[in-house]
Amino acid sequence: MKIYLPQDAAAKALGAEDVARAIRAEAQARGVEITLIRTGTRGMIWLEPLLEVEIDGLRHGFGPITPADVPALFGDLSAHPRALGPVDDLDWMKRQTRLTFARVGVIDPLSLDDYAAHGGLTGLRRALAMTGQDIVDEVKASGLRGRGGAGFPTGIKWQTVHDAPAAQKYIVCNADEGDSGTFADRMLMEGDPFTLIEGMAIAGLGVGATRGYVYLRSEYPDAIAVMQAAVGIARNAGVLGADVLGSGRAFDMEIRVGAGAYVCGEETSLLNSLEGKRGVVRAKPPLPALQGFLGQPTVVNNVISLATVPVIFERGAQHYADFGLGRSRGTVTLQIAGNVARGGLFETAFGMTLDTVVNDLAGGTATGRSVKAVQVGGPLGAYLPVSQFDAALGYEELDAKGGLLGHAGLVVFDDQADMLGMARFAMEFCAVESCGKCTPCRIGAVRGVETIDRIAAGDAAAVGLLTDLCETMQDGSLCALGGFTPFPVMSALTHFPDEFARDREAAE
Ligand code: NAI
Ligand code: SF4
Repeated sequence: MKIYLPQDAAAKALGAEDVARAIRAEAQARGVEITLIRTGTRGMIWLEPLLEVEIDGLRHGFGPITPADVPALFGDLSAHPRALGPVDDLDWMKRQTRLTFARVGVIDPLSLDDYAAHGGLTGLRRALAMTGQDIVDEVKASGLRGRGGAGFPTGIKWQTVHDAPAAQKYIVCNADEGDSGTFADRMLMEGDPFTLIEGMAIAGLGVGATRGYVYLRSEYPDAIAVMQAAVGIARNAGVLGADVLGSGRAFDMEIRVGAGAYVCGEETSLLNSLEGKRGVVRAKPPLPALQGFLGQPTVVNNVISLATVPVIFERGAQHYADFGLGRSRGTVTLQIAGNVARGGLFETAFGMTLDTVVNDLAGGTATGRSVKAVQVGGPLGAYLPVSQFDAALGYEELDAKGGLLGHAGLVVFDDQADMLGMARFAMEFCAVESCGKCTPCRIGAVRGVETIDRIAAGDAAAVGLLTDLCETMQDGSLCALGGFTPFPVMSALTHFPDEFARDREAAE
């Protein structure tokens, strides 16, 4: 009997380890031989722990499963109370276009054979036969843009590093996934670590870098363990090292663990931290592409950007570019969270509307109340009200609505959400996480909290002050933390003015 069970952190948090123990005990008691394969998650978090049993070559799902549901797995499976049918036939899976996440939840994350059997290393082998410039051109042709949030064209960033003369260049993967409601980086690293390794090796070949680092947040112990093990396996198998897959070309990498500051997700702050310095933001220019890690030309890319590179080389740039909308090519890995009936990861071509995602895929709110707003793009993203739900998920399309796609995290709120409270939270978050380098953010965020408190206490004049302060922070901050905090604050004020006035009226 072949059983698959996720060991992703989300599945573990929901009891997957208890289920694994119950399966082994039950099989032993019954004398049944089983193969238990631990995988990443399929991304349907409301069904976790989601166990799968292979029946006639098809993987059938059972979830959410508890230890009490385990004995029935050894009986008539079709009558099991948690039976869901073939996993690939579930609506959530059928409606996706899984390119970057094709193997996540499917393979054993630390089996290089499993990885290769599912298309892994095909892209790297192809890249090894190409020149650096051809590799960069392929990425440009795919239309891939930075998935960390800014959406800068990856191929152009690589071109800058490729063209910079230097004896040593670096690939740095930003795995400091700090946005609220986001988990795509973690899920990918825990479920398919070799994809990231392969993407970094291709990036190294493309720009002429022989060393790579993954800067991984300390809050992700499972991802750290899986990535460290995967790097060791890849090195032993000759995928990394002085002679990548027998090509005579070198690329090696290591995992570095961050100490837990949101601002270390900002690339220059990250580089300082990686160099062992305090995680404060550096002024740009110079761009990291020219003077990055240890002052050398460095590609700094998000996990999802790098993990998407192998499929581009496996299937060709055009295949990837054929998906998407406008200038947003390929797929977006939506992370649906907050007050939703169904939350999780959904990979789809750019262009789906917010309405489809929130009301159809996610099934509305978990509380059953009406949806009030969705915050897209992490704590620095705007709150979009229901009247904007016709917005298509694409970089320019969301920008036109005053929003920000960011790392594609969506946090949904029902009609009980306190929007003045959310605006205050955004300012407070900025005040706590500010690196302190520039005045608009360091002082502005503290004054912002005070100003919102004045509005809550009924001071009508403070609304104008808040607007001015937000303009100053937006225009004068050195990085996105201070510069983008006005997005959630001003969107709450613009779309829900009554809530700011209501508190004022109550005070009067
Ligand atoms: P940015 O717009 O300053 O830069 C984007 C990237 O392009 C950077 O890597 C920059 O070095 C590079 N770049 C720009 N011009 C270049 C050129 N000519 N050649 C080569 N490279 C070039 O944006 P920034 O400050 O790096 O990121 C802001 C974004 O980060 C926001 O949109 C926000 O959504 C996102 N963010 C993501 C978080 C997460 O957890 N993933 C957390 C916080 C913010
Ligand atoms: Fe530091 Fe804030 Fe200025 Fe960014 S905006 S450099 S986090 S003080």
